[in-house]
Amino acid sequence: MSLYDKILILTGAGMSAESGLGTFRDENGIWSQYNFEEVATPEGYSADPQRCLDFYNYRRDIHKNAEANAAHKALARLEAEYPGEVVVVTQNIDNLHELAGSHRVIHMHGQINKAKCNDCGHVYALSHGNIELTTMCPSCKVVGSQRPDVVWFGEMPYHLEEIQREIDSCFLFISIGTSGSVYPAAGFVNMARKAGAHTVELNLEPSDGAVQFHEAHQGKATEIVPRYVEKLMHEAAIAQKKVVR
Ligand code: OAD
Repeated sequence: MSLYDKILILTGAGMSAESGLGTFRDENGIWSQYNFEEVATPEGYSADPQRCLDFYNYRRDIHKNAEANAAHKALARLEAEYPGEVVVVTQNIDNLHELAGSHRVIHMHGQINKAKCNDCGHVYALSHGNIELTTMCPSCKVVGSQRPDVVWFGEMPYHLEEIQREIDSCFLFISIGTSGSVYPAAGFVNMARKAGAHTVELNLEPSDGAVQFHEAHQGKATEIVPRYVEKLMHEAAIAQKKVVR
């Protein structure tokens, strides 16, 4: 029975699919409806900022009504009750982990409810409203240079040094609801294995990189994540009893 000092969890769009946010590469996924080069690259933004802002304003509206699902809640419970550390690294730009009650969440692809000024780099919360071409930076006061604080293709994901430290020090690595097609996140499983961690994939179907994991379980996140969390809690309780004896 295992008791892990640190569990690191990587989440992707499949985690929030059952909250109604959609995935990217599944049939009818977001990238089958939009050309990512037009809406999720610096070049796309430069060519037509309005088109790019419209895409994220539309998605922000959908996110506003989204609620944390049973999988987010199970991870929040794991963080609160597991005897070891639990850290989530998410590729998702929603705030559903936080809404569920998770505190240790690293947003490697940014957050849709924040804006960034392309001129001065100031990042700020969008408490209400969207980003328009007329939006003024609250710091440098420039107009017309505001963008969502999300990482686009061709840009460097956030917090990579911190993530590297978390990978190097984790004993269990769990990947949930990600196709494993976007680097650097797709390479985390290999880094975790090299660091000696046990690695587990929880996904609707085997991902591109499923063979790299020690264990892989298929099913909907709202079903398999609570089940896996229950198993971890149970094993930890048994391991703790053995230590007490
Ligand atoms: P993808 O759309 O590539 O993959 C989603 C994965 O979730 C797939 O493997 C699905 O099988 C799985 N899935 C779907 N529904 C599920 C459910 N209910 N329960 C469990 N799994 C489910 O999304 P990501 O891997 O997150 O980046 O994509 C990574 C990055 O690519 C995103 O952060 C985004 C995207 O382009 C940028 O926009 C920069």
